[in-house]
Amino acid sequence: DIVPDTGTSSPPGSQTETRTGSPEITVVVPCYREAANVRPLVDALTKALAGRSWEVVFVDDNSPDGTIDQVRALAEINWRVRGISRIGRRGLSSAVIEGALSSSARYIAVMDGDLQHDETQLGALIDAVAGGGCDIAIGSRHVEGGDNSGLANAWRHALSDGGIRLAQMMLPVRVGDPMSGFFALRRDFFARTAPRLSGQGFKILMDLILSAPGPVRVEEIPCTFRPRVAGESKLDVLVLLQFAALMLDKLFRGWLPIRFLAFAAVGAVGVAVNLAVMNVMRLAGAEFETAQATGTLIAILVNFWLDNTLTYRDRRLRGSRLYGGLIVFLLVSSVGAWANIGIAQLFRADGQGWGQASAAGAVIGVVWNYAVSSTLIWRP
Ligand code: GDD
Ligand code: MN
Repeated sequence: DIVPDTGTSSPPGSQTETRTGSPEITVVVPCYREAANVRPLVDALTKALAGRSWEVVFVDDNSPDGTIDQVRALAEINWRVRGISRIGRRGLSSAVIEGALSSSARYIAVMDGDLQHDETQLGALIDAVAGGGCDIAIGSRHVEGGDNSGLANAWRHALSDGGIRLAQMMLPVRVGDPMSGFFALRRDFFARTAPRLSGQGFKILMDLILSAPGPVRVEEIPCTFRPRVAGESKLDVLVLLQFAALMLDKLFRGWLPIRFLAFAAVGAVGVAVNLAVMNVMRLAGAEFETAQATGTLIAILVNFWLDNTLTYRDRRLRGSRLYGGLIVFLLVSSVGAWANIGIAQLFRADGQGWGQASAAGAVIGVVWNYAVSSTLIWRP
């Protein structure tokens, strides 16, 4: 372990380090706004993994509550604690992937940072994988002996059950709890699968099983899901949409451009908003031009908001970057609208019907908007 720096003779950075090599286990903990849970979790892990060779890596997405500061403070005095801080990005799955990629351990375990997973089961999960009988050991609430009482309410239970049904239809192996975020696997298995992962959304276990290059052997170990004590759940309706997107992505083996489809769907909502506003204003006696301009502006604002919270949720703009993005979006959309009309007129002059002409205009407009939005506004 680290010898405390007495601050007398040795120059900075010359502390003696006696530990050699990576620990055998990396526990990856995605966390967002979990400042109050970091220290209790490290204490719990220290107890649960006593006698094993382990480290924990917290992957935080620049939480406003200073989660990473808690991690850093512990890391300064405990080499088993590491932190990865990501800036300008959000996402549970991608956080888990990056934490796992930072590991040099033989085994990787993944668990939530809010104490809802029972850390005393970690040893059993790792032993199951180490025994060689499976590629992934899953902490499961839906096998004999498991317990799911920690879900907040009936609504969460219904959502969870529906999601599980859907997930099971897609999986090549039988998994009672495919939505679990508590599991262990060998690092070499992870490394082989990582290049194929979608990384979208919050169902990293599903992603792993569906992306693995060969058949996956899973073993489920009964676990209890505790109620959350501090902080709050980040699961919302948009997260569910992301889950649907992940399933579609896997169903079509990555050939379906999910983000583009979401962008186009948002564009269609914009068209509907535009028409609705125009009609309401016309009925209220407004001039055609005023109604059209107002309708367009409101549609663009609605589209920007939807794209920011939905289509580009993982790259969401906040604060001052939000306003910059909105200005660029307004400019881009007006060029897009202008191109849309221009191209429709070209096709029309070419003798095409109204329908074909406006469809051509719309397609080129949405491709243009998408290309510029993806590269200039919501940059990867
Ligand atoms: N880095 C990062 N970025 N971490 C995140 C993000 C994010 O965008 N969103 C959530 N987390 C972290 C949380 O801080 C927590 O440690 C963990 O991921 C799970 O998030 P919760 O918001 O607590 O999720 P939950 O309790 O609703 O869901 C849990 O149960 C599900 C099954 O019902 C998770 O374990 C899921 O993985 C699990 O599938
Ligand atoms: Mn939770």
